[in-house]
Amino acid sequence: MSTYTRIVLQERPGAGDITPTTFRTESLPLAGLAPNAGELLVQVHWLSLDPAMRGWLNDARSYVPPVQIGEVMRAAGLGTVVQAGEGAAFRAGDLVRGTFGWTEYAVMKAKAVEKIELPKGAELLDFLGPLGMSGMTAYFGLEDVGQLQPGETLVVSGAAGSVGSLVCQMGKKRGAKVVAIAGSPEKCAWLEREVGVDRALNYKDPQWKEEMKKVGWVDVYFDNVGGEMLDFLLTRLNKGARIALCGAISDYNRKPKGLTSYLALIGQRAKLQGFIVFDYADQFPKAMKEIAGWLADGSLKRKFHIVEGLENAPSALTMLFTGGNTGKLVVKVDHGAKSKL
Ligand SMILES: NC(=O)c1ccc[n+]([C@@H]2O[C@H](COP(=O)([O-])OP(=O)(O)OC[C@H]3O[C@@H](n4cnc5c(N)ncnc54)[C@H](OP(=O)(O)O)[C@@H]3O)[C@@H](O)[C@H]2O)c1
Repeated sequence: MSTYTRIVLQERPGAGDITPTTFRTESLPLAGLAPNAGELLVQVHWLSLDPAMRGWLNDARSYVPPVQIGEVMRAAGLGTVVQAGEGAAFRAGDLVRGTFGWTEYAVMKAKAVEKIELPKGAELLDFLGPLGMSGMTAYFGLEDVGQLQPGETLVVSGAAGSVGSLVCQMGKKRGAKVVAIAGSPEKCAWLEREVGVDRALNYKDPQWKEEMKKVGWVDVYFDNVGGEMLDFLLTRLNKGARIALCGAISDYNRKPKGLTSYLALIGQRAKLQGFIVFDYADQFPKAMKEIAGWLADGSLKRKFHIVEGLENAPSALTMLFTGGNTGKLVVKVDHGAKSKL
């Protein structure tokens, strides 16, 4: 193969949806990619699709700089080292994870790449799921921000997604009553029958708010959705409740309209706290150890929604906003041959 494919940001989508002209595919000579000292050439096999990627397209202040026009779209991934530059403590064939972007090959600083060692019971893709950012987000959002206690009622929105389905299970493991909110009867059935929540409610069902009222007051709300759903859950808080504001996917493609029920935070002495998973990086090993234990004993369920082909990454990203995925959405980068990974 003499060329490789990458996908770059062509134009910002503004306050609306991603469109077919948001990204552009490019083909470049592979010979132009060579690692210098301290760098690695990585062949990318799997890419993570995350709602946060929508935010990286906006020219706005955030926890990471926006992706620039003409730059490769930022994305976390899994790959193998093809060539290691002088002084890089890696060998050809090493399995690695890093922020490789939407590309078949990437030259990376070795310091920005992490070697993967598969724990017992884990598979490679788990490093984009429970052992990756989804798992870390679920774990620290629930433990540190949610401060969930045994016997409490935990409500999780976006519950059939990557982060949400892990939060639900961690909530059960910590002894909470778990109520899941998701967008279809199939997702709710999966949550109740396989993920093991106490109750799953379909927010597209007109009766769902009435059903939620029957659940009783909420101690911890792990919010992946924001917007009107957050506004409603604010009216359902128990005294001393905590809202872990993990994400607000309902507002990523539009200008948020604002909350009308926030006064409940005063009356219920409740707390609403946003967080960013990267702030817990020094504690990731602790979480990975406990999560790896659950993978080893088979008690943690996970589902991957696999889209084949790098060229399908832009259309697959929009799936996160229409609810097309159940579990972790990933892209398998094809390389023109059946990959072992
Ligand atoms: N704070 C952090 O550090 C951090 C880190 C990682 C992720 N996050 C956030 O965590 C959330 C979940 O991320 P994920 O990777 O696990 O994605 P995901 O849940 O696997 O996928 C997104 C899901 O959101 C639901 N959704 C989309 N639009 C919606 C709407 N208008 N109303 C209600 N639900 C909607 C869809 O499911 P339905 O079919 O149920 O609608 C979709 O499947 C996102 O908000 C993300 O930004 C935050």
